[in-house]
Amino acid sequence: MQITPLSPILGARIDGVDLAVPLDAAAFAAIERAFHAHCFVVFPGQHLTAAQFHAFSRLWGRAEPHVIDTFHHPEIADILVLSNVEVDGKPVGLKDAGSYFHSDYSYLDVPARCTMLYALQMPATGNGTTFANQTRAYDDLPAATKARIEGLVCRHHYGNRDDLDERSRTVASVLNEAQKKKVHWVRHLLARTHPRTGRKSLYAVSGSSFGIEGMDDADGLALLDELKVHATRPSYCHTVDYRVGDVIVWDNAQLLHRAPLPEHDQARTLWRITVKEGPEGALS
Ligand SMILES: [Fe+2]
Repeated sequence: MQITPLSPILGARIDGVDLAVPLDAAAFAAIERAFHAHCFVVFPGQHLTAAQFHAFSRLWGRAEPHVIDTFHHPEIADILVLSNVEVDGKPVGLKDAGSYFHSDYSYLDVPARCTMLYALQMPATGNGTTFANQTRAYDDLPAATKARIEGLVCRHHYGNRDDLDERSRTVASVLNEAQKKKVHWVRHLLARTHPRTGRKSLYAVSGSSFGIEGMDDADGLALLDELKVHATRPSYCHTVDYRVGDVIVWDNAQLLHRAPLPEHDQARTLWRITVKEGPEGALS
């Protein structure tokens, strides 16, 4: 196994691992260390069935199917199909997903530990995800700001607080009425301690955060917007372009991310599995 950092700020490539066969405990421990240190890891050149991809996800924890059940994989509901491909005029997957900075499942009580994608069809360029390192962004805050946000609790709900227009391509993927009934308001600390590393990060200051408890809405949003501008500065970001066969796993407790809006003329299909944190991830 060779682990190669992709940038000084975040990301590592891991070569020499075949994810189609079971990993031993030592190999997975090395992968987890790289994952926590670099925030995301990419495994190039994989050839996986849906069952093999799902088996790999189980090493990380318990997956939870996405609330958008329309595009679950037909055999394994834990896999969400992301695609701009249409067959007989019908989409085969979710197309415009997560084009604004967010952290996956931050609208759930127990959020996502990690998200993994397996790239099946990819345009040549401009197809990847942009990540922003929220541990670095927290570390660089002035001491007075850290003191100001310590213990603050954000109110989260499914959605993109910067775009609530359901006709827009940059709105959060639109839920049907039954799916809307499944999402509720939840609470998370603004400066959140990583359940495994113990380090603090800014958490989901963009996306599902709509307010701060104990502050009026305008003041809460102003603070969240100020932190979002800081936390998504280019110096905290790295974009990774995918090739067919890439598997990526990213740490939602340490990252914001956003996906490109795919064009129709170039097929882009990925499988996604999102694994939840354990019960320690909930703010009681
Ligand atoms: Fe996402």
